Amino acid sequence: MSHFNVYDEENTLLMIPGPVPVHPRVLRALSRPIYGHRTSEFRALLEEIEKMLKPLFGTKGPVFMLTGSGTAGMDAAIRTFVKPGDKVLSLVAGKFSERFAEIARTAGGKVVEVNVEWGRAIKPEIVEKALREHPDTKVVTMTHNETSTGVLQPASEIAKVVKEHGAILVVDGITSVGGDYVKMDEWGLDVVVAGSQKCLGIPPGLAFVAVREELIDYIERNEESFAYYTDLKRYWEIWKKSKDLPFTGGISLFYALYESLKIIHEEGIENRIQRHRLMAKMTRAGFTALGLELFAEKGYESNTLTAVKYPPSISDKDFRAKMRAHGILVAGGQAHLKGKIFRVAHMNLTAEREVLTVLAIAELVLKELGFPVKSSGVTAAMNVYLREKGRAR
Ligand SMILES: Cc1ncc(COP(=O)(O)O)c(C=O)c1O
Repeated sequence: MSHFNVYDEENTLLMIPGPVPVHPRVLRALSRPIYGHRTSEFRALLEEIEKMLKPLFGTKGPVFMLTGSGTAGMDAAIRTFVKPGDKVLSLVAGKFSERFAEIARTAGGKVVEVNVEWGRAIKPEIVEKALREHPDTKVVTMTHNETSTGVLQPASEIAKVVKEHGAILVVDGITSVGGDYVKMDEWGLDVVVAGSQKCLGIPPGLAFVAVREELIDYIERNEESFAYYTDLKRYWEIWKKSKDLPFTGGISLFYALYESLKIIHEEGIENRIQRHRLMAKMTRAGFTALGLELFAEKGYESNTLTAVKYPPSISDKDFRAKMRAHGILVAGGQAHLKGKIFRVAHMNLTAEREVLTVLAIAELVLKELGFPVKSSGVTAAMNVYLREKGRAR
């Protein structure tokens, strides 16, 4: 007879930076019978979805919807705006910002990397200096919320510098859109990419590329393309004409997205962002109280995930295996940060119940592993909650 594990795969709390737990309303939407995609009903759904997405990007411009993971969106952004020989300044401060540089190279771009230590913020002065050294830069790439380090990069300040130099700013907002402020039009972010399995609250499989209205003309004039599936001109031409997609969309994922967007707008974008910010504060206070150090530069911590340094006595393998045995999946570090940090996401539906649970279980695990915890992480997080909600006595 097989042994039943209470915390089996279906009963595990996902606290990894995507995929995230999705609301039962979204799960039910996924089971909706499939209908034809070349129909007026599906086109009307797409049109409604696009309208509901725009405020999450803070733009009046179009939001292109691709069936593929977030990286497909990054690929589309690069292949649409970078032609062979174009100079691309890639701001690299982690695994995902590095990916932009890699994609730009495959598109034939002349990539200049501006490398910043992982865990640190990219200061606008560094970008200014690089742009002065490379005045022929056409495109600048950056990751808004660097998921590998837990740093929220100062996108609006960087955008100001990039605008002064007349370059196109392409931003990966895969773990910020839907969870934190993204104000494309106000800040001057030209292109922003998002993914479905993070703060937009549905399973993996859709990518989004929002483009400021000012750049539509560029897309229309785009003659040569070194992409097919990810050439945004194809998406624009059919969207403009008939609010349709050039290729078969992941229909069920669009049903799920519509439901998730309804949930997002019912909560209200501002409320949702404030909730994410409060959960981030609670998480940071909790792990600090336990006696652990945060990885991200102070003042630039992400609001959708927290990266925490391991104390020398705790092994990544043991910590995460025990967290998993107690029913919670957290993420480890990537590349050279493997074994050095763990990452806890607080995206989509994550609220006080999940944050307090993850802190309580982390405390239990640290004690099981013999780490002398400093104080209660749960109490520290609760104090933040009570203070912020104005209920402190
Ligand atoms: C900031 C960021 N960019 C890009 C990606 C890649 O997205 P995907 O795995 O959906 O292709 C991720 C995934 O974690 C991410 O967090």
